[in-house]
Amino acid sequence: MTEPLILTIFGVTGDLYRTKLARSLYRLYSEGLLPEDFLIIGFARRPFTDEEFRVLTREAIENSPPRLSINNKNNSVEEFLEHFRYVQGNLESEEDFTNLGQLLLKEDERQGICTNKLFYLATQPSLYATILQNIATAGLAIPCVPKSSQDTTGWTRILVEKPFGKNIEEAERLDEMLGELFGESQIFRIDHYLAKETVQNILTFRFSNNVFESLWNNKAIERVHIIFHESKTVGTRGGFYDGIGALRDVGQNHMLQMLALLAMEPSKDMSADTIRAARAAVLEQTHLFKTDRGGGVVRGQYEGYLQESQVGPDSQTETFFRVILGVNNERWKGVPFELESGKAVAEARVSLHIYFKGTTKCNCAISHSEGHQNILTFDVQPNEGIRFRFWFKRPGFHSSVEPQELSFNYARETNMEMSHDAYERVLYDGLKGDQTLFTNTKEIMAEWRVVTEIIDTWQSVPLTLYSKGSRAEEIV
Ligand code: BG6
Repeated sequence: MTEPLILTIFGVTGDLYRTKLARSLYRLYSEGLLPEDFLIIGFARRPFTDEEFRVLTREAIENSPPRLSINNKNNSVEEFLEHFRYVQGNLESEEDFTNLGQLLLKEDERQGICTNKLFYLATQPSLYATILQNIATAGLAIPCVPKSSQDTTGWTRILVEKPFGKNIEEAERLDEMLGELFGESQIFRIDHYLAKETVQNILTFRFSNNVFESLWNNKAIERVHIIFHESKTVGTRGGFYDGIGALRDVGQNHMLQMLALLAMEPSKDMSADTIRAARAAVLEQTHLFKTDRGGGVVRGQYEGYLQESQVGPDSQTETFFRVILGVNNERWKGVPFELESGKAVAEARVSLHIYFKGTTKCNCAISHSEGHQNILTFDVQPNEGIRFRFWFKRPGFHSSVEPQELSFNYARETNMEMSHDAYERVLYDGLKGDQTLFTNTKEIMAEWRVVTEIIDTWQSVPLTLYSKGSRAEEIV
């Protein structure tokens, strides 16, 4: 990417900018992955000067240092910060967006070209509709007219953080609005889990290892378990989280996307459109799995949640959920996909477990209580890796059969420390214009349909209180 770029970030005083975006941008810069000529504009309500914005950014970089650089080209934080400008503005004020537009225009005039423009919505989701409308009213949604067919400069793209709406109706309205203001190739709906190395590896692992792909169906697989456990509480994010809850926060997006990657049909090629269509197709076939016990739905709240800042005193928001889903197609008929997520639970871990059917006849003297089941595990974090459990005979006169693991661990086998984190990838792909790791409308709507089905069912399910640090299996 060599063409000049202006990246405008709305919500730079928020959590996401300070914990993820600032350091990801610095890391891209230090590796020479940003264009030589770039300007980063922070847009927020607080009365900051450019200098104060730079201080905030410097602190964010220093507080969460990026991973080691693969290819350190530019190291100086000071030089990086020279590219930063701050615009004080109210997200609800058309006039402030007009001022922003004038600043962008001036930059274009100064450079004598039409720069590429990327807008990043890192604010409260309730503000998205207003921001999008104001971007359009200020004429910022329209890309520049190319001077010739070779001219690739002048694109305008928009990066939208999740959650995309608070329910299916809001998501539809937002999507309709986005569709009216921008072309689909301009819209990048972020789900940063898709950009995690280990999550990307699900497709590579499935489709590059034929031995597994031929067993990837209901004849060989008994059940699938997707775990998204966090030991942290909602902390300072109560204002965002309350009324949203675990299902909408991570279920509607990250967890269903991982389900889609596990369950989707092989796509005929690796293009963004085909992969996104394959993910959408399987999400459209996903429903609550009806068990004898009903939907198998559990919803919980950790003790002390009501005392978190900005949480309603009688809040019924769930900080834990467990649901069982099924995929209605020939490949997956009858296979339960259990999704389980919680804040303030014992162990922080995100992992996907594929349980293959146990042996019906075991040719061994001592049978194991677990029925000699093979389990394939994707450890998304921490200890990123892939493990396969198999059984072996312990040496000796007795045929004692025990489990062992074939395993691959990123830290051990690769230079994982050097790899890019999810937000670097999100930003980089946004700049390149590659939409593979971003969700399309169909995926979002299918995800909301699944979530709506779950919410309709759990109206009648009481909220279970659990103490902080509980083990997930104790929450029932
Ligand atoms: C975010 C959720 O999308 O993902 C947070 O809003 C959650 O509640 C976070 O903690 C987890 O992401 P990561 O990359 O830290 O595992």
